[in-house]
Amino acid sequence: MLSYQHTYHAGGPADVHKHSALCILLEHFVIKAKPFSILDIYAGKGRYKLTGEHAQKTKEYECGIGRLWPLQNRPPALQRYFDAVHYLNQNDTLVAYPGSPEIARTFMREQDQLILNELHTPTYRALRTWREADNRISIHKRDGLEALLGLVPPRIRRGVVFIDPSYEVKTEYTELPKRIAKAVKKWPQGTYILWYPMLSENRHDALIETSVHTVDAKIFKSEIILPNQAPHYAIKERRLLGTGLLIFNPPWKFNIQMIDVGRWVSKMLTGHNDRHKTSWLSTKS
Ligand SMILES: C[S@@+](CC[C@H](N)C(=O)[O-])C[C@H]1O[C@@H](n2cnc3c(N)ncnc32)[C@H](O)[C@@H]1O
Repeated sequence: MLSYQHTYHAGGPADVHKHSALCILLEHFVIKAKPFSILDIYAGKGRYKLTGEHAQKTKEYECGIGRLWPLQNRPPALQRYFDAVHYLNQNDTLVAYPGSPEIARTFMREQDQLILNELHTPTYRALRTWREADNRISIHKRDGLEALLGLVPPRIRRGVVFIDPSYEVKTEYTELPKRIAKAVKKWPQGTYILWYPMLSENRHDALIETSVHTVDAKIFKSEIILPNQAPHYAIKERRLLGTGLLIFNPPWKFNIQMIDVGRWVSKMLTGHNDRHKTSWLSTKS
């Protein structure tokens, strides 16, 4: 049974980190007129209410988008991200936050394709309502591990796979990299971005190790170490120590932008820009 609900975490520090990286990545794809695909394997909802009971209970967004939103000195690479947030918040108070499907949609042209997958029935239904009649968007209801392999390669073979699981099943930490390894074999031109939580159990170490040993791709890592005393960071009552991303086959110069933007995001979220840690885990192509 699925119990994770992103409504508790929308707009939190982890969302800011992963959505910043997604936006930097998608900026690379809109440079050329050639069409691209975005596959969002654990899509969640299109939009999240921050005034709802769940968001108000954790108030994670206050430690995330709430810290960045009032700032004027925003990195140009995040312009569309802030445009997407602004679109849902026409006044000064934050009342809503865009999910990854909505953020992805802000980058799409007529020729592009968005493929969403979500297993949780109410969330899947909410996604269908959110899509309205946009026929560039298709929505699947499959297990993420199965969809990751089943949906690649997409018809348009230039694009990104965004993988943002809830890690309710502990084996996902090692199963996901193995699936990505197989997906990369089917679609080596694709860029894959995988988010992971950094918790005290250190399960993400196995995720990283398995990725390095099984995925035949360049792998770039970006992590933001969150403050120890922060009150609200929690997934199922456990403190989120950090937020991590592995980017497989990043486009040329993505790493340089990610370092710059990540330092800015880290400074705004934690007070320190050096809490953003990056490295190449593999440079084989
Ligand atoms: C972290 S949330 C996604 C947030 C979203 N990607 C965003 O950035 O706005 C993870 C989502 O995966 C869904 N989910 C959980 N287990 C799944 C599975 N086995 N297959 C597909 N979706 C699943 C959850 O219902 C939840 O909506």
